[in-house]
Amino acid sequence: MAEAPIADRAEFEQWYVASSYQRFVESEGAPLYQGSAIEDLGTLKLADWARRGGKVAYTRLADQEGLSLQIVEIPPGGELKPEHHMYDAIMLVIQGRGVTNIWQPGEQPHTVEWQEGALLAIPLNAYHQEFNSSGTEPCRFVMGTNMAEMINHFHNIDFIFNNSYVFSDRYSAAMDHFYVDQPKHWSLRLFETNFIPDVREFAVDAWREKGHRTGISRISMASTSLGLHILDVGEGTYATAHRHDAGPHVLQVGGTGYELLYFEGEEKPRRIPLHPYGVIAPKRNEFHQHFNTGKGPIRQVAFRRGPARYGTGAMYDPVGASQSVDPSATGYQINYEREDPSIREEYYKELERNGIELRLPPISQGRS
Ligand SMILES: [Fe+2]
Repeated sequence: MAEAPIADRAEFEQWYVASSYQRFVESEGAPLYQGSAIEDLGTLKLADWARRGGKVAYTRLADQEGLSLQIVEIPPGGELKPEHHMYDAIMLVIQGRGVTNIWQPGEQPHTVEWQEGALLAIPLNAYHQEFNSSGTEPCRFVMGTNMAEMINHFHNIDFIFNNSYVFSDRYSAAMDHFYVDQPKHWSLRLFETNFIPDVREFAVDAWREKGHRTGISRISMASTSLGLHILDVGEGTYATAHRHDAGPHVLQVGGTGYELLYFEGEEKPRRIPLHPYGVIAPKRNEFHQHFNTGKGPIRQVAFRRGPARYGTGAMYDPVGASQSVDPSATGYQINYEREDPSIREEYYKELERNGIELRLPPISQGRS
């Protein structure tokens, strides 16, 4: 049989099915925020949420649909309808207080109380329901998720939200210590816990290789396939610039400063103010650098790939170099010695204005 001439073949629009995640967000009647950063998740405009009640918005930051955020608000005295889903979610409370009930079918709900700063794991496909405990103030939280990836992978919303499989290995009522606030310190910079009452108070381990007075801890929560870390950048210091593949979402939970974002060869970096609760999600190959300009450390919570405890076949690399697009010394990280002198100059002026002392050694004596 003769091949049909190209002119008779299906048009692109006839066969190509666009992102299921984007269609899902549209079906939720919710805004979808894009770009590399959102300055304040606390004031971000959300839409009324017919499916669960309250208000909601979603993100598609860094031009990727692997990791994303769901931002949720519950009005004073309000509650959401229960749900369960085939994607991982870790909840960060950014305003107010409330409770989450968590249960497997046929079991008693377990109630977790939370307030601003709490970090809480939602076990895979377990039922969960949130309530605002205040009758006068709204509460707002952010879910770090791999929902976009899972929705696109299966492109069947019913499978995602109406799947009856019970992951009793992940959670069951018998695991009565599941939400106890006692992190297990597996090794240097690696903890396991399912609930942190206030992430702003969590004691992190030092990470001298990444910069002076820098600390980090990776957290494994609810056996998720999400990676998570808490990073401190000390007063009077900034982290070295680096770049990698798109995906990590860095949420600002404490301190003030700014972020510089730029692509190689760009004349001027973009400058984003850092304060709670903003998020930075650099695009693929976009250099980024955190600057602390205030009193005390900057603290960031990052949702990322690479679960802390579960192997993915990739070489374990706490620095994240395995995610880098170009792992060569010049491509992945710009050490202080090689950075444009105007970067430190700008930082130094900012510190002077704020009456903060620079706590970095001079470039010539710094590390290479
Ligand atoms: Fe990064």
